[in-house]
Amino acid sequence: MVSWPRRIADVPRSSVIVPCVLVLTLTSALTACGGGDDAAGAPGLGDPYFPKAGNGGYDVSHYALTLSYDPGSRKLRGSARITARATRGLDSFHLDLKGLDVTGVQVGDRDARWSRAGQELTVRPRTGLDRGETFRTTVRYAGTPETLTDPDGSREGWLRTARGAVALGEPVGSMTWFPGNHHPSDKASYDITVTVPKGLSAVSNGELRSVTTAADGRRTFAWHTAEPMASHAATLAVGAYDITRGRTKGGLPVYVAVDPSQSAASAKVLARIPEVMDWEAYNFGPYPFSSTGAVVDRPGVAGYALETQNRPFFPGAPDIGTLVHELAHQWFGDSVTPVSWRDMWLNEGFATYAEWLWQEDHDGDTADETFDALYRGDHHDVGGAVAAVDDKAVWAFPPARPPGPAHISDSPVYERGAMVLHKIRRTVGDDTFYDIVQGWAAAHRHGNASTADFTAYVEKKAPDKDFGEIWKDWLYGDGRPARP
Ligand code: TRP
Ligand code: ZN
Repeated sequence: MVSWPRRIADVPRSSVIVPCVLVLTLTSALTACGGGDDAAGAPGLGDPYFPKAGNGGYDVSHYALTLSYDPGSRKLRGSARITARATRGLDSFHLDLKGLDVTGVQVGDRDARWSRAGQELTVRPRTGLDRGETFRTTVRYAGTPETLTDPDGSREGWLRTARGAVALGEPVGSMTWFPGNHHPSDKASYDITVTVPKGLSAVSNGELRSVTTAADGRRTFAWHTAEPMASHAATLAVGAYDITRGRTKGGLPVYVAVDPSQSAASAKVLARIPEVMDWEAYNFGPYPFSSTGAVVDRPGVAGYALETQNRPFFPGAPDIGTLVHELAHQWFGDSVTPVSWRDMWLNEGFATYAEWLWQEDHDGDTADETFDALYRGDHHDVGGAVAAVDDKAVWAFPPARPPGPAHISDSPVYERGAMVLHKIRRTVGDDTFYDIVQGWAAAHRHGNASTADFTAYVEKKAPDKDFGEIWKDWLYGDGRPARP
């Protein structure tokens, strides 16, 4: 094993003081900013809420993960081959990886030195990388992956289930099962190839390219994602699933994996995936990916559903509103992805508004009624399940400015985010509103966007309207706006 025992303090520094615009921990600051070590990639991207998430100095284009998992021993083992381009000259660079044992790192076909500290895996190739150079890093690793607890107390990362495990990555859980540039701003294509014991299936993102069976009955599932994917939308579900494959009317492949205990309860709602997909494509524009579906495991695996790319994850049979929500995220969140975790409302506001629109189009409350009930603080009907919306919670903070990482999944991001969209709709009317929704999804398809990009886009689409009050009071303002 080649490891890199070198301490950060030994890294040569130039005397140039590089201005530090990133919010970083003290250790990180030594290598990233104050140290002025020009050739070291930054250990974080300076996300306002998750500063160490992701890494600076390179841009990943492809992950090839070759893994095996045995639920009996709980051991995951395998390799990650990461193709990236250096965005500056690099003598070393970081990857994010939490837990697990690294057994070797290569850059190109040469062994590289490496060291670990917390979630940072630092790699020092034999020869430096030039700015613009494309390089391939292979990390071999093994171990029992960890479950993480988010700042908000919810569990993510590697979650064990009755018969296997599920990997959920929002916001930072994907670093528990593969090393990478784990920030939504660096999207890449993926090949995820997973070997599991006889009788189990491995379900991931994208399309299933092949299933091969070894002499001992172990099966290898090869999944391919050609479209860019943010690492938090990557998933792996290992279990004794019932698998259903089909196609939408338009020919889009549908791949659904359900824990047998949930089959009866979820059959009816999952049969509506093609109908929901067609309705969403009609409202949001062409579907941005090459397949769809769902993974349904048992209730309690996680406390939330997640918009894992191509096939969202549900802990137990979803109701129709939750299905509509997670599939809407394929457009808003997975295809158009926020540049930072502060812009989470761009995901959740749209996905929540999709639920309101679905109700409006399916004999439920109109979006206007849902908005007004929320504004008044009444109980209202969300996706068929009656939810009490705490009027204080909705107004706790402005949707575009959650007060910290523990609040990115709170009610203002969801409900008040949807209210911002409804305010825009009331201002511009339905025709322009749907132009905005579809145009936004098209303009940033497979990319990243910020709240500032969004407000500028809306203003460009409706130049004769004044959005000043909506932005000031509804998007960025504290408390309940004076007028609905
Ligand atoms: N983003 C998920 C959704 O809307 C929900 C989610 C993910 C969540 N992680 C969370 C909700 C943590 C609360 C806490 O579908
Ligand atoms: Zn959501």
